[in-house]
Amino acid sequence: MQGRFTKSIQAEIINSLESFNSGPTQWAGVNFLDLDLYYFSYTGISETLAKDLAKRLKLTPKALKTYSLPYPLWLFLSFIPSLKIKTFFERPSFKRGIFIFPKWTFNCPPATTFLTEVSFEKLLLIITYGGFKEKSYGKYYQKLGFKNSKEVTVLYVRRKDFLQNKEKILENLVSEIFKIFKDP
Ligand SMILES: Cc1cc2nc3c(=O)[nH]c(=O)nc-3n(C[C@H](O)[C@H](O)[C@H](O)COP(=O)(O)O)c2cc1C
Repeated sequence: MQGRFTKSIQAEIINSLESFNSGPTQWAGVNFLDLDLYYFSYTGISETLAKDLAKRLKLTPKALKTYSLPYPLWLFLSFIPSLKIKTFFERPSFKRGIFIFPKWTFNCPPATTFLTEVSFEKLLLIITYGGFKEKSYGKYYQKLGFKNSKEVTVLYVRRKDFLQNKEKILENLVSEIFKIFKDP
């Protein structure tokens, strides 16, 4: 009985050490635990990406919540630049943040609300998109981010690429995130 108990403790310790050593939070001795990871998602792509990234970075993702509206209404609202909508989210705990959200025509109202209500020293925006006009949209949100945050970087993930090459996309994002946040 005692032998089995000791073995299970040994296995537990080995498991913890393995995940500790292989986890990206150990790269170059940099600590990534002081990061807030937020997402807004309507059809699930940004949510999956946020949860997969959170797992790799050992973070707890925080979801933005808003009204549950049908697609035609969201589509209509996405044509109104700068429109905000009541959005609920946990306040940031840290000075550095990642925010993952979708590209919606000209405007994603919950994302616009969020970016006008938070401020970070360093902010990374990750925009998931279907396939067009993502750069001008990213520039718009980078500018909006700069109103409250000191440093704002934007990365883009095409939905099809994420669905077809998830591991590769995640690997690239993790390495970009390490470059962006390696300095305190
Ligand atoms: C209202 C609405 C508008 C959209 N507009 C665009 C667009 O202009 N360009 C584009 O590439 N994708 C557009 N998309 C597709 C989304 O950006 C893409 O599917 C994204 O990955 C969805 O993220 P989500 O699943 O987290 O909601 C739109 C989607 C919705 C719902």
